[in-house]
Amino acid sequence: MKRTRSAGIGMYVPKNVVSNNDLTQVMDTSDEWIQERTGIKERRFATRYEDTTTTMGVEAAKIAMQRAGVTTNDIDFIIFATLTPDYYFPGCGVLAQRALGISEIGALDIRDQCSGFIYALSVADQFIKTGMYKNILLIASETHSYGLDFSTRGRNVSVIFGDGAGAVVLQPTDGDRGILSTHLHSDGHEAELLSMINPGFHAGKFVPEKKLSEPHQPYGGLFITKELIEKDDIYPYMDGPAVFKKAVVKFPEVIVEALTVNGYQPADLNLLVPHQANLRISQMVQHKLKLRDDQVYNNIQKYGNTTAASVPIALCEAWENGKVKENDLICLAAFGSGFTWASALLRW
Ligand code: ACO
Repeated sequence: MKRTRSAGIGMYVPKNVVSNNDLTQVMDTSDEWIQERTGIKERRFATRYEDTTTTMGVEAAKIAMQRAGVTTNDIDFIIFATLTPDYYFPGCGVLAQRALGISEIGALDIRDQCSGFIYALSVADQFIKTGMYKNILLIASETHSYGLDFSTRGRNVSVIFGDGAGAVVLQPTDGDRGILSTHLHSDGHEAELLSMINPGFHAGKFVPEKKLSEPHQPYGGLFITKELIEKDDIYPYMDGPAVFKKAVVKFPEVIVEALTVNGYQPADLNLLVPHQANLRISQMVQHKLKLRDDQVYNNIQKYGNTTAASVPIALCEAWENGKVKENDLICLAAFGSGFTWASALLRW
């Protein structure tokens, strides 16, 4: 059977650099607090009316396609991972397709938050191994800054996230290189611990205290209301300590799973590219797996947490910096809202 390889990778981050000190202008926080708890020094924020999740994803895609030596005519399937889509529907897959002028191939949207890129990679891998597609364009992109609470109330979430995009072109290959395996997990028991449930179609079903007062009309009126907006109940929620505790268990677990299935040990890894959730999480994972500094790639310091886009942005930057070489054993790993967690082991 064929394997799947990355034929070209690209990234795009908006030009607007926002430092921790910039955030102190709008909320009660400090550079010291943010760096100590998360490792983040700065992040990029999209420019209003210019950048969107789709446009940034398209820019990353153009670079990936150029590096892969393919044109839009060669692309036979699009997969788009994001939790910050331009529209509630349709998804960014078709918007990227339109922007790139690609006609009538399938476009799939993936909603697995921080694990979205690796989930998407796994889906693409199945399509390529079976021979169904030969050039899949996988885009992961996020525009968090348009929807966070930048008041002091939302500071535990809003200081963490940044905007940006990554993309890869995936092709079949013969031989031993490419994706060796992917491993996907989820557990919905604590879905609301890291979530944005409003606006939504839940009508207070799972979280009764989020139930809106009875709408005046017989139908509808449960998706977004003045009441929600007045209560400022339209932002992401995160129980930071709970997410932290779960992440430092599930990250090592899913990395070891990928290595064990393929007969490797952590010491065999040339590079671990973890989802850039929080530098402290990456450091704990590194410590648990006894990896050297040069075996782990982190760039959250510059970009913050870009959820689905963080793995391809980190992988692309590592590749551009010469830290990913032919035949290297690379592990991608993610943990995030859902909870979902995943890994992929690649022979580059
Ligand atoms: N600036 C200053 N003070 C803050 C800020 C801020 N930005 N945010 C919270 N605080 C305060 C809180 O109000 C609280 O004050 P109090 O003790 O007076 O009540 C205090 O700091 C501690 O708050 P905690 O939320 O308990 O802070 P904690 O030490 O856990 O750090 C953090 C918060 C950084 C979010 C941490 O829990 C964490 O990293 N969790 C993991 C979550 C994560 O990485 N999420 C990324 C997205 S999910 C993913 O990608 C996997």
